[in-house]
Amino acid sequence: MNKRPIGVFDSGLGGLTVVRELRKILPGENIIYFGDTGRVPYGSRSAETIRKYAKQDMDFLLSGNVKMIIAACGTVSSVAADIGESLPVPYTGVLKPASIAAINATKCGKIGVIGTTATVNSGSYKKTIQSIAPDMEVFSRDCPLFVPLVENGFTSEDDPIVALTVERYLAPFLDEKIDTLILGCTHYPILKSVISKFLGDSITLIDTGKETAHYAKSILEENSIVSDSKDVGKCSFFVSDRTEGFSAIAGVFLGTDITGEVTHVDIGTI
Ligand code: DGL
Repeated sequence: MNKRPIGVFDSGLGGLTVVRELRKILPGENIIYFGDTGRVPYGSRSAETIRKYAKQDMDFLLSGNVKMIIAACGTVSSVAADIGESLPVPYTGVLKPASIAAINATKCGKIGVIGTTATVNSGSYKKTIQSIAPDMEVFSRDCPLFVPLVENGFTSEDDPIVALTVERYLAPFLDEKIDTLILGCTHYPILKSVISKFLGDSITLIDTGKETAHYAKSILEENSIVSDSKDVGKCSFFVSDRTEGFSAIAGVFLGTDITGEVTHVDIGTI
């Protein structure tokens, strides 16, 4: 059994949606999380830049002797879908787990996808879904204001700014009569309750963070590298910008105080 940590990275704190679920389903695992807070957002950048950043993020995790890497970022998973192929450890992004979950959930065959501009422009979800289930109809829409809302802690369903933004972006899906919506960016599950309130119960929301964590667990099992530790695993957090803001929002989000557990790393020099 393997006690080496699992490496998780994202452009910011959205990838914590994967960490939160990993801690629930694999409590004995050690985790190294890297949030590239100094360079967020990735979603408005070129494919070349996103690849360069993702490569540096993964090199940092590999320097921590991780046994698996999870790109907990919809943008990296979409724009650089092949980036895990040359790694010395197992890898997953969020694209495949979320696509499979949506195909299994839909009854009418109409799936909506929301993501960053880079994710939507890449057409990655449509390609992946239709490669598995060619009859599916896929409707995609970018929601560029969601990430800054989440990164700044605007997530309450009672906040009119959040509610109006959700309505503005998601109303067209009601006309398209989807019954399943992929939250194709790892920041978006943090807005799940407000999205669900607007769309209603008849539309199933696919939480990329949750699906990716479960998919990662199956990869660890297939490779026989699940930790058998009975102790609760340690989670180490690294960011490329100031640690204070991240600690505050991440702590609320994870439900534990992580002040003092976040370390700054100069990612550009790796
Ligand atoms: N974490 C990114 C994603 O899942 C969103 C934030 C960004 O644009 O970097 O696509």
